[in-house]
Amino acid sequence: MGYKVVIVGATGNVGREMLNILDERKFPVDEIAVLASRKSLGTEISFGDKTLKTQDLATFDFTGWDMALFAVGSGPTKEFAPKAAKAGCVVIDNSSLYRYDPDVPLVVPEVNPEAVLGYDKKNIIANPNCSTAQMVVALKPLHDRARIKRVVVSTYQSVSGSGKEGLDELWDQTKAIYNPTSEVPPNKFTKQIAFNVIPHIDVFMEDGSTKEEWKMVAETKKIIDSKIKVTATCVRVPVFVGHSEAINIEFEDHLDEDEARDILREAPGCMVIDKREDGGYVTPVECVGDYATFISRIRQDSTIDNGLNIWVVSDNLRKGAALNAVQIAETLGKRVLKKG
Ligand SMILES: NC(=O)c1ccc[n+]([C@@H]2O[C@H](COP(=O)([O-])OP(=O)(O)OC[C@H]3O[C@@H](n4cnc5c(N)ncnc54)[C@H](OP(=O)(O)O)[C@@H]3O)[C@@H](O)[C@H]2O)c1
Repeated sequence: MGYKVVIVGATGNVGREMLNILDERKFPVDEIAVLASRKSLGTEISFGDKTLKTQDLATFDFTGWDMALFAVGSGPTKEFAPKAAKAGCVVIDNSSLYRYDPDVPLVVPEVNPEAVLGYDKKNIIANPNCSTAQMVVALKPLHDRARIKRVVVSTYQSVSGSGKEGLDELWDQTKAIYNPTSEVPPNKFTKQIAFNVIPHIDVFMEDGSTKEEWKMVAETKKIIDSKIKVTATCVRVPVFVGHSEAINIEFEDHLDEDEARDILREAPGCMVIDKREDGGYVTPVECVGDYATFISRIRQDSTIDNGLNIWVVSDNLRKGAALNAVQIAETLGKRVLKKG
C-alpha cells in the first residue's frame, strides 16, 4: 500500500519537477492529484507514462489524502495549506510562509532529517529557500568536523528561481536584443536580465539587505546551528537553471583543504569535482537534471585563521525545491507514516 499524494502548483516549474522526481525515485504512490489555479483546470500533465488532468485548488477536498506537496506562492499557501493540514493531509511547503515558524520544522534530509518528527504540531513541514538548501548540504559535514563560525556567501542565481515568468523574460529579452523587432522591458525583474546581473532578489529590508539574503541567514541558523554567522549577497544572473555560490567559511578549528575535500566526497548529497585545471569544476549548465550538490574550487583562505573557500552549484528546481520536498516525503514516510 502506497501514499495518496497531492501536488499543488503542478503546472509550475517546481510542481512539474516534483512529478518527474516522484516517478524517477519510484515513490510509492497509490493515487495522485495535480492542482493549480482555476485557469489551468483540465490542463494535461505527465506523470511517468500517465497523463493527469489538473484540478482547481480552490475546490479540492484534502480529506483522505496523505501528503500535499505545495509549490505555489505564499498567498495561495496561506489560504489552502492550513485547510489541507486540518483535513489530516501533511503539507510539505515550498513557499517561505512557514519556514521561520517555530512550530514548523525546516528540513533538508541530508542535514536534519530528525526534524521531520516535529511535523505534527501543525501538520506542516517547510522546505528551505533554494540557495539555502544547496549551501547547508555542503556546510553541514564541514561544521561537524571543525565548527563553522562565520560564512560569507555570494550567490549567482538562475532565473528559474523566480518561476515560469522569470524563464520567459530571459528568453524573450535575449531574443529581442539579437533581433530588435520588439522591446521586452523588465517586468518580473527590476532591470534587464539578458546579458546582465542584478544584485537584488526579493524585497529590501530595513538594514539594506534583501529578503533573499535574510532568508539564507535565518534558514542556515534554523537548519544547522543558531551560532553560525552568515552574511550573504544574492545576485540574479542570466542562467536558465542552476544556482552557483562562492562561499567563504571561517572555522573554529583548523581544517586542511585536503581533509575538507575528503569529508565532502563522503558527505550525503555532495559530489566533489575539483581538479585544478581548465574545466575541472562544475558550472550551472552541467548540474541541470541532477540530484547532487556539486562542490569545486576547494581551497584554503590564507587571509584568516582557519578559512576555506568553496564553489557550490546545484539544480535549484531539484535540490533547491522539488527533490528536497520529495526527500522530505520519503523521510516522513519511512519514519512516521510507514506505508509503501
Ligand atoms: N523555483 C525555485 O527554484 C524555487 C525554489 C524554492 C522554492 N520555490 C517556491 O516554490 C513555489 C513555486 O515556484 P515555481 O518556481 O514553481 O513557480 P511557477 O513556475 O510560477 O508556478 C507557480 C504555480 O503556482 C500555481 N498557482 C499560482 N497561483 C495560484 C492560485 N491562486 N491557486 C492555485 N495555484 C496557483 C500556478 O498555477 P497556474 O499555472 O494555474 O497559474 C503554478 O502551478 C513558490 O512559492 C516559490 O517561492 C521555488
